[in-house]
Amino acid sequence: MENLPHGAARLTTQSIRSFVLRQGRMSPAQTQALATLLPVYGIPYQAAPLDLAAAFGRAAPTILEIGCGMGETTARIAAALPEQNFLGIEVHAPGVGALLKLIAEQHLANVRVIQHDAVEVVQNMIPPGSLAGVHIFFPDPWPKARHHKRRLIQGGFAALLASRLQPGGYLHCATDWEHYAQQMLEVLSAEPQLQNSAHPADGYAPRPAYRPVTKFENRGLKLGHGVWDVVFVRKP
Ligand SMILES: C[S@@+](CC[C@H](N)C(=O)[O-])C[C@H]1O[C@@H](n2cnc3c(N)ncnc32)[C@H](O)[C@@H]1O
Repeated sequence: MENLPHGAARLTTQSIRSFVLRQGRMSPAQTQALATLLPVYGIPYQAAPLDLAAAFGRAAPTILEIGCGMGETTARIAAALPEQNFLGIEVHAPGVGALLKLIAEQHLANVRVIQHDAVEVVQNMIPPGSLAGVHIFFPDPWPKARHHKRRLIQGGFAALLASRLQPGGYLHCATDWEHYAQQMLEVLSAEPQLQNSAHPADGYAPRPAYRPVTKFENRGLKLGHGVWDVVFVRKP
């Protein structure tokens, strides 16, 4: 049997089922935001490359966020960095509604949203070498060993994400599950297109100033979990 690093099983990216679509309660405001704002700030999924400059109405460094949750972090970062474009991907309808509401309330002209499986979006819509960065904050940890195959950060998807980054672009993951943090470090260190930005170069990064403490992070901190940031950069 091939000796692969932790979590780097030779899965095709199509085989990652990283989420369970929960029905979830939609508030009236989220329902209304989905109905009225998705046509404005949403980008429909299509199995064809997306023209990012056309989608945002300008050419600017574009950051992809996978799994925005309720969108508070996305909105905070986008408001703080108006010169960058932010493309948020989320499958959970109440979360998409909540993010859309924040975009409208805060007049965030630099955010667009895709409500679809991020694996398919990255595979089919994001052109190679097009992203300045990727944020994956507190992805579902899938703690049981038999569910590790459902974790987003694994070999095939890491290679795909790296291919979508511009040279010098970054992939920033954060988690409050130590085992997943180790997997992130091992998988990304094994990806030849990437190098660790941390010092020393085999470790975790300090939390970058742009990342606020997220909702799920707070939940983890209350449970006594640690938090680990992993920031890798696409090689030239
Ligand atoms: C644990 S939550 C974290 C949310 C947020 N990043 C935070 O830190 O508060 C993970 C989110 O990722 C979303 N998600 C998981 N897999 C996904 C996928 N393949 N495509 C899009 N969203 C996904 C889930 O629906 C969920 O909202």
